[in-house]
Amino acid sequence: MNKRCTLLTRLSIRARSTGDEENSSSTTLDTSRYTFFFHEFSLSFQNLIARVSPGKKWLENCRAYSVPASSKVVRDERFATLDDQDIKHFSGIVGSKGLVVDKDELEVANTDWMRKFKGSAQLLLRPQSSNQVAEILKYSSSRRIAVVPQGGNTGLVGGSVPVFDEVIVNLGAMNSIISFDEVSGILICEAGCILETLDKFLADKGFMFPLDLGAKGSCQIGGNVSTNAGGLRLIRYGSLHGNILGLEVVLSDGTILDMLSSLRKDNTGYDLKQLFIAGAEGTLGVVTKVAVLTPQKLPSVNVGFLACTDYTSCQKMLLEARKHLGEVLSAFEFIDSFALDMVLKHSGDRHPLPDAKEKFYLLIETTGSNQSHDKEKLDNFVETVLTQGLVVDGTIAQDNTQISNFWHIREAWFLQLPPLGKAGAVYKYDLSIPIKDLYNLVEILRERLATVVAYGHLGDGNLHLNISAPDYDEKASFFFQLLAKIEPFVYEWTAAHKGSVSAEHGLGFMKAHAIHYSRSPETVELMRKMKAMLDPNGILNPYKVIA
Ligand code: FAD
Ligand code: MLT
Ligand code: ZN
Repeated sequence: MNKRCTLLTRLSIRARSTGDEENSSSTTLDTSRYTFFFHEFSLSFQNLIARVSPGKKWLENCRAYSVPASSKVVRDERFATLDDQDIKHFSGIVGSKGLVVDKDELEVANTDWMRKFKGSAQLLLRPQSSNQVAEILKYSSSRRIAVVPQGGNTGLVGGSVPVFDEVIVNLGAMNSIISFDEVSGILICEAGCILETLDKFLADKGFMFPLDLGAKGSCQIGGNVSTNAGGLRLIRYGSLHGNILGLEVVLSDGTILDMLSSLRKDNTGYDLKQLFIAGAEGTLGVVTKVAVLTPQKLPSVNVGFLACTDYTSCQKMLLEARKHLGEVLSAFEFIDSFALDMVLKHSGDRHPLPDAKEKFYLLIETTGSNQSHDKEKLDNFVETVLTQGLVVDGTIAQDNTQISNFWHIREAWFLQLPPLGKAGAVYKYDLSIPIKDLYNLVEILRERLATVVAYGHLGDGNLHLNISAPDYDEKASFFFQLLAKIEPFVYEWTAAHKGSVSAEHGLGFMKAHAIHYSRSPETVELMRKMKAMLDPNGILNPYKVIA
């Protein structure tokens, strides 16, 4: 049976249903205090999932390899070192329940999700109100104590953990939903609300959060806003720049900026809240409240898993999907066969297309209000692309279980990476590249390196590149040799193709040095001036973004 017949058979037999450094005196980096951590790649899938689900122990079984940091970052000696008086003062602000000095808790909060970056904060604060955040920052500014705003600590660029001994200010205790207007769909909540909690709250009311990502069980809306998280359905719902209507932000001097508008239209002067949505990553202020426009949750969901022989077909598929699925298209994700095989091997998930031997796979989702109409649309679309030869094999989920299974495979694309590097490290890149050029980078890198795992949000021109070292032997020289093959090449190539070195994860600590690849010197200079104006003592998330 040829491929076309295979697909047609599948389609016919399966009924679908619902589906700043100036003047600074400094000391050199103490690598025992700031260390690059490599994963313990033999962590089980469950342990990895536990990181995404709060409340589970994940640090157990974790063996960390440390090598000297390649970065030349030094502690800024203008920052004060905490003393007893400071701790007493902070305790007076947040009370004993908001002040954490316990070693184990600090260990978790000091370590990033990738277990690649680790700080040595001696104090973690959990404010319970905007006023407490304001008091913390006011005092920290006056004493020049550096702080790191932290949400769910799921960031992938080392932005959410201290580089040295900065105080961690975690927003998790500020997790109240303030109001929800069922007519306008506008939700107002505190910054520490967990994304999944908000989505469940909204689902009960027939609405949904316009952002979805694999870390939803842990990430907080304040962290999402501060990184302008993109996620899986940006193609449909757009970025947070459009959906966030208002913010409350606390500046480094303790000023509470009330920009918590819940108006769809508000052109009164500069739209300052946008400064704190993406780009800022906790370097300009602490987001304490958020107003977001939420869409209706639509009942009809259909998901297809389709195989294409070449990248050109994937691009044409995007065009056709936009043409035929238009308003119902809600996700367009891609993975290549190398990555998919690896994910399936480690996750135990079943290949949705067991007979397919194609190089590219697409997960396409539609979401609408009319099941028969949406089903017919997807059927017609698949029939068209099949006839055009753009797709050679495919299947459409026939029930909610299958829909979840397909999405589970997608969300595992990243979670299943570590087993690949059982003997090594994973270098993670998150790039925006014009769609026509996007996969060229993967092929070029594959000529330089053994293992390159590629997937991403093709609909958004967002490539996730994950490079692992098959023979990592814990020697620093290997680390540097491998890294030299990747950087700065990946950044230079991306810049040469008019891409961005940070599509959705931000710059954090990992890519602060790379900002120049995607922003002009004049732009970076203006950013520095804005940072100096909003945070004159530079206490907010130092060494990050434009460090
Ligand atoms: P944190 O990691 O705690 O912090 C991130 C940054 O924001 C830091 O610089 C921190 O200082 C700052 N920050 C946090 N809270 C505040 C606040 N209240 N005020 C000011 N600054 C603050 N990202 C995507 O864009 N798309 C994806 O599809 C995606 N998928 C992911 C899947 C997995 C499994 C994982 C682990 C991560 C994924 N990420 C993705 C990355 C990450 O989840 C997002 O960047 C998320 O928005 C971070 O939220 P958080 O609450 O964990 O923030
Ligand atoms: C994703 O799309 O899964 C996330 O951005 C995490 C990753 O880079 O894999
Ligand atoms: Zn992503």
